[in-house]
Amino acid sequence: MTKQIIKDQLNRPLRDLRISVIDRCNFRCKYCMPADIFGPDFQFLPKSELLSYEEIERVGRIFVGLGVEKIRLTGGEPLMRKDLPVLVNMLSNIEGLEDIGLTTNGVLLPKHAKALKEAGLKRVNISLDSLNDELFGDINGRGVGVQPIVEGIKAAQSAGLGVKINMVVKKGLNDTEIVSMAKFCKDNELQLRFIEFMDVGSTNGWKMDDVVTKKEIYELLKEHYLLEPVDPDYFGEVAKRYRYEGTDVDVGFIPSVSESFCSSCTRMRLSANGQLYTCLFNGNGHDLRDYMRSGVSNEEIKQHIMQIWNGRKDRYSDERSEETAKNRKKIEMSYIGG
Ligand code: GTP
Ligand code: 5AD
Ligand code: SF4
Ligand code: SF4
Repeated sequence: MTKQIIKDQLNRPLRDLRISVIDRCNFRCKYCMPADIFGPDFQFLPKSELLSYEEIERVGRIFVGLGVEKIRLTGGEPLMRKDLPVLVNMLSNIEGLEDIGLTTNGVLLPKHAKALKEAGLKRVNISLDSLNDELFGDINGRGVGVQPIVEGIKAAQSAGLGVKINMVVKKGLNDTEIVSMAKFCKDNELQLRFIEFMDVGSTNGWKMDDVVTKKEIYELLKEHYLLEPVDPDYFGEVAKRYRYEGTDVDVGFIPSVSESFCSSCTRMRLSANGQLYTCLFNGNGHDLRDYMRSGVSNEEIKQHIMQIWNGRKDRYSDERSEETAKNRKKIEMSYIGG
């Protein structure tokens, strides 16, 4: 397949597509879907509003023709969408797509890891914010302990999937867990990434003071381990990685607040109801679903996507301040998948 390279207003190519397949989640993490807001009466998207797997595959194919090499499936919790391996299989047949990943809380992996791998999934990024059952249960808002996640990690590993662990660090909440998480992941040869708490959406009460910066975490780790910097795996990798000296194990930092990486941001996001977002911090998306459903050709969809990418100027994290964090309208993270 011939691939086109398209560039945005800041000369950034389109390389990755993050697809949210569902806005629901079985967790209520404090920093993402606080339980008091996402309560029993919260109106999630009805099934009829979600893109079908056929629609997602159609869009995926067009995106690959426009230079996308990697697709990441997200949610909410993507494994809450029925028959996800069917979608993975459909996407894995797209010629020119090099990588399919999944970002998950891990709870449903024991049930699905093998089928996902067989369908063509390559990697999973699993969130785990603490090794203390009580604290973890409090953070995930559902009282789920650490063991189910460990089972999910093991299931992914035995299925042959690549595994990374994501830990969002929030000051006063789980910063006491940094060293124990590093030790656990190092001992189990898992790549851990510490993520700076971000001001996504408008429900998580973000303040700059809540952020534990990459530098602070790095300095703390250096008291315990010798670390050497590692080159990025690919252009635009969001994690800055280091290796524990004398091992093959890496540890990374995703410093989207203290060292923003907008200049190399090659990501487009597609929400579960078919809206395109050119930045995680957009207020509104560009409709693709109703446009697709209006009977347009693939070529027309392609032109539509090109126009959106060509006009892209977003660099929210470069411009972030307490003021933008509070006053800008932003889409919720659970709707757009991080
Ligand atoms: P790989 O590098 O392919 O393993 O995945 P990833 O790190 O891009 O994806 P993942 O879903 O694991 O995201 C990890 C963290 O990075 C999450 O907190 C995301 O919200 C954050 N992140 C990913 N892409 C962006 C981005 O474009 N901008 C910002 N600000 N944060 C991002
Ligand atoms: N800041 C940083 N990362 C977040 N995530 C969810 N909410 C936030 C936030 N406010 C993380 C999840 C998951 C990834 C998709 O994004 O923990 O690992
Ligand atoms: Fe669910 Fe992930 Fe959000 Fe937690 S961070 S509520 S697991 S989508
Ligand atoms: Fe990309 Fe927006 Fe994140 Fe910057 S803030 S890296 S432009 S998604």
